[in-house]
Amino acid sequence: MHAANLWLWASLAAPSVGVHTLWNLGNGFELTVNVDSNLLSIAHRGNSIWETVSGQAFLSASAGDDEVLAANGNFKINEVDRNKCTNQKIRDVTIKSWQESGNDHAAVIQGQLTGCGNATPHFSVAFWVPSKFPDRVAFSVNVDPGTSSDVATKLYLTYRSSPSEDFYGLGAQGSFASFKNQTVPIFSREQGVGRGDQPTTLLENKDSFFAGGDQFTTYTAVPQYISSKSRVFHLTEESSAYTTFDFTNPSAVTVRYDALTVGGYFMQAENMLHGISMFTDYTGKMTALPEWVDTGAVLAIQGGQTKVNRIINQGLGLECPIAAVWLQDWSGTHSQSVSYMSLNVSRLWWNWESDTTLYPTWNEFVQSLRDQYNVRTLAYINPFLANVSTKPNGYRTNLYDEASQGSYMIQNFTTNSTSVISSGPGLDAGILDLTNAAGRSWFKDVVLDQVWSANISGFMTDFGEYTPIYPDTQFANKSIDPFFYHNAYPREWAALH
Ligand SMILES: *[C@@H]1O[C@H](CO)[C@@H](O)[C@H](O)[C@H]1NC(C)=O
Ligand SMILES: *[C@@H]1O[C@H](CO)[C@@H](O)[C@H](O)[C@H]1NC(C)=O
Ligand SMILES: *[C@@H]1O[C@H](CO)[C@@H](O)[C@H](O)[C@H]1NC(C)=O
Ligand SMILES: *[C@@H]1O[C@H](CO)[C@@H](O)[C@H](O)[C@H]1NC(C)=O
Ligand SMILES: *[C@@H]1O[C@H](CO)[C@@H](O)[C@H](O)[C@H]1NC(C)=O
Ligand SMILES: *[C@@H]1O[C@H](CO)[C@@H](O)[C@H](O)[C@H]1NC(C)=O
Ligand SMILES: *[C@@H]1O[C@H](CO)[C@@H](O)[C@H](O)[C@H]1NC(C)=O
Repeated sequence: MHAANLWLWASLAAPSVGVHTLWNLGNGFELTVNVDSNLLSIAHRGNSIWETVSGQAFLSASAGDDEVLAANGNFKINEVDRNKCTNQKIRDVTIKSWQESGNDHAAVIQGQLTGCGNATPHFSVAFWVPSKFPDRVAFSVNVDPGTSSDVATKLYLTYRSSPSEDFYGLGAQGSFASFKNQTVPIFSREQGVGRGDQPTTLLENKDSFFAGGDQFTTYTAVPQYISSKSRVFHLTEESSAYTTFDFTNPSAVTVRYDALTVGGYFMQAENMLHGISMFTDYTGKMTALPEWVDTGAVLAIQGGQTKVNRIINQGLGLECPIAAVWLQDWSGTHSQSVSYMSLNVSRLWWNWESDTTLYPTWNEFVQSLRDQYNVRTLAYINPFLANVSTKPNGYRTNLYDEASQGSYMIQNFTTNSTSVISSGPGLDAGILDLTNAAGRSWFKDVVLDQVWSANISGFMTDFGEYTPIYPDTQFANKSIDPFFYHNAYPREWAALH
């Protein structure tokens, strides 16, 4: 497969504009470039697996900063596009040495974007077959912002689809099966209550900005899809900028990426199941759930030891097998008023130790459920630490204080202290800064000493969708851009666990 003299099938990238040139990417993958019609196409052993739209630019860029409005984990993004380039000119195609490539080389297309005011940003697009995944093609796009007064800030990649191609994936999406004819944003945030349905959405929005959400708001947004043609496309883990997948054109897909360098992969699978397997070769595969989850119900209960015991007894008395109880209120609750109705909701105290009122003998209680009923216990934690100084029944450790002293939470540059999240009245909290090595290590000890120390069998970790993106958001790693990093936090949080 790796024969250096097979590199180039046809002409080298002489300035021979208009001719088809064919490049061997390795392992049966070939790239065809037609400079005149801006057409790129990649085939595997003669079958086309990806192509751009002939006669149309496959790359564009625009200026302007997307606007983010946020409150309480709800983020609304207004896309701003100025001077969007309308065309492009390919200057040359060359072979460059490339580290991650199976044959040490990549085909690199370079040129300029045009029709964007007085800017003419340069671009380069590289394709290679990675040594780690020889059954697919990797790409990397880079746009040079240029020197005009209104420099490019984001890029667009457009390639061919067909009216019959449906798209699935993009993370945990609740409103559509296929996304054909939709535009799907990739941004981790509260999923919303109502999500467009009325009157719920209006009521929620009245209580807190954008709390109703819309059809695309989700905790888990992933820049990946699989199509009904068994084609898989995804961005790399490092490409965490805000992204939108535009499927509204029946004959093309456009990926809008809010930064100027992006990497990804595309692949043609044998069928959709195979496509998922190829994708998880990259992401890692979920381990099988333990056998005990299939031995009975997992009951979500709130209310304390006495109530949990009573419900377990009732269930077992009715011969209902119970595998586990999930007790998210193990660290205590407090009542919080909501503005749109004369009622209060119950909120959790985010101070990761057991509550002395609801679960006065937590460790013994957890063990007794196991020993008496063979029922396991699941708990709950998230990346917040709440200021518990006003907790009516007290606390043993004030994690918020410890984390404040160590600067372990995401910081506010203006106040030079913790970036305080007010999650409704009476609930002030900070978010663990995962870029702070000392903070990670401190939190790891908290989880081991205060959460796993009871004989629990797991916990919900929540998502990590809240990372603020104000101009004065500051991380221990000072080079982090909060908007770019926002989508990386959920993965880092999961990785910590
Ligand atoms: C695509 O969406 C638009 C707007 O929602 C709608 O008018 C149109 O009928 C849809 N097209 C198809 C093919 O579903
Ligand atoms: C509702 O919550 C508020 C705090 O937000 C509290 O002052 C009030 O006592 C609560 N009311 C009830 C009935 O629990
Ligand atoms: C926690 O809240 C109390 C009461 O509002 C306040 O006095 C204290 O300064 C807060 N702790 C920190 C570390 O900010
Ligand atoms: C910010 O706070 C830290 C301690 O938390 C202190 O060492 C530092 O001098 C402060 N910086 C400024 C600019 O006030
Ligand atoms: C920092 O504090 C200022 C002043 O209280 C506030 O306006 C700003 O939103 C805060 N930013 C963050 C990231 O918490
Ligand atoms: C947890 O409970 C199980 C079942 O009673 C027991 O076998 C195990 O030793 C306990 N683990 C710890 C760390 O106490
Ligand atoms: C800090 O963040 C930058 C930008 O994401 C990254 O390149 C760098 O590796 C990070 N530094 C550390 C010490 O993690």
